[in-house]
Amino acid sequence: MRENKIGILDFGGQYAHLIATKLRNLQILAEILDPEDSTEKFREYKGLILSGSPALSSFDEESSYNKEIFNEDIPILGLCFGHQEIAKYYGGKVEHRSREYGRAILKIVANSPIFDGLSESETVWMSHGDSVVELGKDFCEIGISLNAGIEHRNSAIASEKYKRYGFQFHPEVDDTTNGEKMLFNFASKVCGVTPDWKMESYKDFLIEKIKNEAKNRDVFLLASGGVDSTVCATLLIKSLGPERVHLLHIDNGLLRKDESKEVLRLFQKTGLSENLHFRDASDKFINALNGVIEPEKKRKIIGDTFIKIFEEEVNKLSLKDPILAQGTIYPDTIETKGTKRADLIKTHHNRVPQILEMIEKGRVIEPLKELYKSEVRKLGEELALPRSLIYRHPFPGPGLGVRLLCHSGIESDLEKRCSAEKSISEMLKGSDIEAKVLPIKSVGVKADLRCYDYPVILSGNIDWQNIESLCSSIYQTSKEINRCAVLLSKSKIENISLINATITRERLDLLKEADFIVSKILKENGWYEKIWQCPTVFLPLNINGKGREFIVIRPVYSERGMTARPSLLDEKTRTLLVDSLSKLENISGIALDVTTKPPGTIEWE
Ligand code: XMP
Repeated sequence: MRENKIGILDFGGQYAHLIATKLRNLQILAEILDPEDSTEKFREYKGLILSGSPALSSFDEESSYNKEIFNEDIPILGLCFGHQEIAKYYGGKVEHRSREYGRAILKIVANSPIFDGLSESETVWMSHGDSVVELGKDFCEIGISLNAGIEHRNSAIASEKYKRYGFQFHPEVDDTTNGEKMLFNFASKVCGVTPDWKMESYKDFLIEKIKNEAKNRDVFLLASGGVDSTVCATLLIKSLGPERVHLLHIDNGLLRKDESKEVLRLFQKTGLSENLHFRDASDKFINALNGVIEPEKKRKIIGDTFIKIFEEEVNKLSLKDPILAQGTIYPDTIETKGTKRADLIKTHHNRVPQILEMIEKGRVIEPLKELYKSEVRKLGEELALPRSLIYRHPFPGPGLGVRLLCHSGIESDLEKRCSAEKSISEMLKGSDIEAKVLPIKSVGVKADLRCYDYPVILSGNIDWQNIESLCSSIYQTSKEINRCAVLLSKSKIENISLINATITRERLDLLKEADFIVSKILKENGWYEKIWQCPTVFLPLNINGKGREFIVIRPVYSERGMTARPSLLDEKTRTLLVDSLSKLENISGIALDVTTKPPGTIEWE
């Protein structure tokens, strides 16, 4: 039986997730699928969309995925790579010809329901190096693009006979002016999907789904107090009743200052306390992290320790065959190589191997795993949760564990770092800006792939208006750099030495205090509501013979956490931050991270 929804085959393109979000904004349910899923699975959908792909080319190789879809009577729309695959499957030809990037004009040259209500000429967004140069016999060209005066053929194609459509451009990005209309036409006019998806009906759908998945088993949820797990807890209780839902809040020692106290109070207030369990496991986590330096290792240890504690607590209650519920949202899965073609950017705490094993065995339910944070927040509003909870800044599962950078104290790649610093300094010659490359790496993402590179600290005469473009030139000058920050504390950096440091309670306490000060100042100066999040990060560095912790403040604007722009704050707030933070003990310097994502992730690890 086909359900009233569209499936998106994710070939790993950076915009695949946006297709789903755009459709849901149009009240059409869309779900992300694996291109290797079974034909049976694809039959649940009234229409399929094949996404673009960063790594695959229809020209170079035969791509492997479930091509049975083409034998099914399900309308298919292909975008970019997907467009080329459709053309090729039905006897067309794809070649490395005519690259197009950015804005183009699409001339619509034939009638098609997919272009209903559009004008003859539309602004679209392109990003491709391969093109469809010949069409199979049942296909026709319905759009030609014009880019810098050059005509590109077959930019939109269709076979009304098979209900197959292909766009070389991306209707899902905001720069394709009427892209949403095209997606809507495909879903409603071609596939016959009724636009009745509302958060309210989705809430009811999720409640039913939880009932079906949980069957008669009890559910145990790790509840951090963040928006995702609290929305998830509320949904579980609505579906299964409070007796069958056990909430476990673990103090892992990596939470913000006084957070556990606050969370327990909040759960009491919101009626989530019937089966609430609390465990202070901070010693276990801190001991397990002792001596560990590598960020992926830290993430895995934190994830594994969560599971160990979960199992210990479940055993104490002697529940029969309980299942684990998690507030996982879509970006958590994609960054942990959640789809076969995505790269591992970082392992999210709810995607460690043990959990993956439990998922395989059907022992995990994750009701929010198709949603973005903004959608979870809408769902939270639907569930009447308090605004203060829904609009709290996101906080990563591994908490301050990934904001307290660790090091052996011994530098391994001095040559690379010095050569990066030299080329950047040459580029900055005559600008009154000094660049120092720090001897400690952080995680980033470049062209959809994970990177682990150096940050550069800029000081001197900073032109805040043009800082983003200066950073772009730095990334182009040196491939060793994925992050830029501006020194806020006054004294110039003369020499830097690395300190041998791992996670300790003392370091955590200091970071908690610094994080508390940053949040307070942001709230008092009207920034908290404007930004997505502001990690406070410690780097174990001694500067000019002084201090042990170099503080980086990372305020960012973001819609979904998948991309981000730095918030530069204002001069008064920056000064307040420096004045207050430098009063803490052992601080060697303070900087403001001004990196976009990509190339830096929001968190440093
Ligand atoms: P990045 O650092 O990947 O962060 O740019 C994107 C968003 O995800 C949050 N984040 C996590 N959330 N578990 C989580 O629940 C994790 O392991 C994790 N790592 C990063 C991060 O705070 C930001 O909002």
